[in-house]
Formats: sequence, structure tokens, C-alpha cells
Amino acid sequence: MTDQPKSPPAANAMWGGRFAAGPDAIMTAINASISFDKRLYAQDIRGSQAHAAMLAATGILTDSDAKAIREGLLTVLSEIEGGTFVFSEALEDIHMNVEARLKELIGEPAGRLHTGRSRNDQAVTDFRLWVRDQCDDAALALQSLQRAFLAQAEAGADWVMPGFTHLQTAQPVTWGHHMMAYVEMLARDVGRFTDARARMNESPLGAAALAGTSFPIDRDMTAKALDFDRPIANSLDAVSDRDFALEFLSAASICAMHLSRFAEELVIWSSAQFRFVTLSDRFTTGSSIMPQKKNPDAAELLRAKIGRILGATVALFTVMKGLPLAYSKDMQEDKEQVFDAADTLMLCLAGMVGMVRDMTANRAALEKAAGAGFSTATDLADWLVRAAGLPFREAHHATGSLVALAERKGCDLHELSLTELQSAHPAITQEVYSVLGVHNSVASRVSYGGTAPAQVRAQVARWKEVLG
Ligand code: ARG
Repeated sequence: MTDQPKSPPAANAMWGGRFAAGPDAIMTAINASISFDKRLYAQDIRGSQAHAAMLAATGILTDSDAKAIREGLLTVLSEIEGGTFVFSEALEDIHMNVEARLKELIGEPAGRLHTGRSRNDQAVTDFRLWVRDQCDDAALALQSLQRAFLAQAEAGADWVMPGFTHLQTAQPVTWGHHMMAYVEMLARDVGRFTDARARMNESPLGAAALAGTSFPIDRDMTAKALDFDRPIANSLDAVSDRDFALEFLSAASICAMHLSRFAEELVIWSSAQFRFVTLSDRFTTGSSIMPQKKNPDAAELLRAKIGRILGATVALFTVMKGLPLAYSKDMQEDKEQVFDAADTLMLCLAGMVGMVRDMTANRAALEKAAGAGFSTATDLADWLVRAAGLPFREAHHATGSLVALAERKGCDLHELSLTELQSAHPAITQEVYSVLGVHNSVASRVSYGGTAPAQVRAQVARWKEVLG
């Protein structure tokens, strides 16, 4: 066999001027981001349209070149959306894929589009636009989820259930109160995405590679065209900042943590031991061996997905940590993490909306459980303070001895006779039985933010106004 000398791959058309040969195949595999950043095509074309219009308005480009670019970019957009565009790994990323195709379509003017900009500001502009949309989508999805919890709260504002601390029965609460806790929690998530969006809404475009440009560009104009509030004030900061992605991931992580907490409650509540809720067939699966099973798979997976989202957050923090100014290629590792986290979060939010909307609370089981485990012991102690004037510590002690007595007898507090109750303290009268019921217990907790149905209804009304 004769060894044919391999001709080296040709140098890159976009930046290969000083290169005698093209990159090794492994280099291309390491370097290319097109497999994932093609997702930014719409943002890339929008950014280029804004840049080209500005170059024409400032006289840097002729109107005829700008027109050719504008029309060429629209063709590229329709090719990508129509599925006929051929993406090339050799062209590395979405930015060079679009520009190379533009060159094929319109020739020489395509080469003028990159005047006064660099891939460094271009890439981060595209990415900011994409993450900004995700903040909006996440906030909207969160509001749908809030509405689903709100509907549950309204339906069961006065249904009683056990409230837990340490997952041990603590005091009776209302179903509505429990649901509204999530409405509040999710409101903070909405706030985090909204805050992050406001902070990230500055334009990096025109920072060029890192130092700005000598061309008389108008960064206010491109910022405005892309719906940014203003251009970023420091070009080094503009190309090297990924705080916006980290803020998005942080907000997503906290949100996913919230979803995992309710998912865990659903897993517990839907078990045969609890039967607090029935999940719909749409969000559960059966077992191929145990015919009775209805497994809360969606809830379990939502409980687990926080792992991916938090993982993406840690990954990007690790990439960014210790990077000197300004741009480093490390930063190309930002996108896959954010894409996966955003997709996962949106899927989880949609899944949770479906589960919360569909779930049926088992009112009777909730009520039965609400009274178990001496859940009104605090009400008894409070009654001793109020009606008999005992110091709380003494009332606590007397109640404790009654709980022990009931436990020995295997009954509930309200099942003890008056004589038995009086053995703990002589001041106890028949009237005490009224506070031993779970409905009286929850109705009495009227302090602001408390579990009383009246409080819950007031919160539901307030949130209905907010969410419309
Ligand atoms: N694909 C790159 C990224 O996402 C674009 C920027 C490349 N810039 C450069 N100077 N090589 O970060």
C-alpha cells in the first residue's frame, strides 16, 4: 500500500487568514457549538438586522448594502425555519453559519455586516435575548401554577387537615391555607425572574471584541431596536459578563426546589397510608406486575429534576469562577447548561400545573387525619390560659399529662371524660370540649396569616385580584 500524503483541511474562511492549515477533526469537535447554539438562530438574525440597520443609519454601510443584508437575512431565516438550511460544524457556531450562508446568497455585502462588532458581543447579545425570553416564559408559567393552587385553595378554604412539623401531626390547618402557602412561595419565584430580567436588559452589542470600536456606531440605536433598556456601559464587562445566565439559573434552581417540595407532598399524600389526594390518571402510571398500583411518577420526577437544574447552576458557576477579563472561550460552555435547565424548568412547571389542576383532595380523609395525633392539644393549653388564667407553661404541663392519659387509653383528647380532664387541672369545665374539635381549632386562628378559613378567604380574594 502506498501512503498517500493527506492534504490538510483548508483554513477557516472566516478567520483563517494567518493559518496555513485548517483545524484537526478533534479540534473542530471541541470547538464547535453549532449543534446546540443553532437554537439562537432567531436572536442571531434579529441582532444582525439591528446592527445592519444601525450601520446604514450611521453611514458606515451604504443603503444598498444594508438592503441586500436585510433581505438576505430574511431568506436565511426562512431557510432555517423551513428546515432547508444546512448547518456546518466546520463553521463552528450559529453566527458564522448564518454569515456564511448570507455570503452565498448576497455576495460581497455580507462581509460588511461584521463591521464594528465581534462574535464576542454578538454571541452574548443573542444569548441575553434568549434568556430574557425564558424569564418571561417562566414568570407566565408560574402564574398559571399560582392560579391552579388558588383554585384549590378557594374550593377548600375551610377543609381541615393536619398541619405538620417534623412530619409529625402538629395542629390542624385548612387545606386552603396549605395551598396558599405555595401561592406565596411561587410569587417569590415570579419576583426573582422579573428582577433578573430587569437587570439583564442591557445591550452588549457594539462592545465588539472587548474594547469597543473606532467606527462611529450608535449603541443606543441597536439597544432600542432589540428592546434593551440601554447599552452596557463598559465594553469589557459587556463581553465577559454571564451574571444574567447565573441569575436565571439561580432563580430556576430555587423554583425547582419549591416544585420538588410540593412533589414530595404529592408522593406522600397520594400513598395508601395517607390518601389525602387522588392524582389524575393523566399524571400517574401503573405497574406491570401489581395491578392495584397507581404510581405518582410525574411527582417523583419533578422531585428529582432539581438535580439537573442545580447541576447546571453549579456547572456555570464553575466555568465562570476565576476567568480573567474579558472573553474566554470557556464561556461557550454557558449555553448547554442554560438550555437544559430552562427546558427542564418549563417542563416541570407545565407538569405541576397539570397535576395541581387535576388533583382531587379527599376531604373526608383530610378531616379524619386532622384530629388524629392529639392535634388540638395546643388549643386545650391555650384554653387553660384564657379561661382558667393559667400561665402557659403550667397549661402546657397539664395538657401534656392529658395527652399521656389519652395515649394510655388509646383514645383522643375529646374522648376523655370531664372527670378525667379535671384530674389534670380542676379549673377545666365542660366548655373545654368546644376547643377540642378541629373546626373550632382552625376557626380560632384568626391572626394575620393564620389558618382560619376567614383569613384564607381574604388571601384568596387578594390573590384573585392580583392574578386576574
Ligand atoms: N461560539 C462562541 C461562544 O459561544 C462565539 C464567540 C467566539 N468568539 C471568539 N473570539 N472565538 O462563545
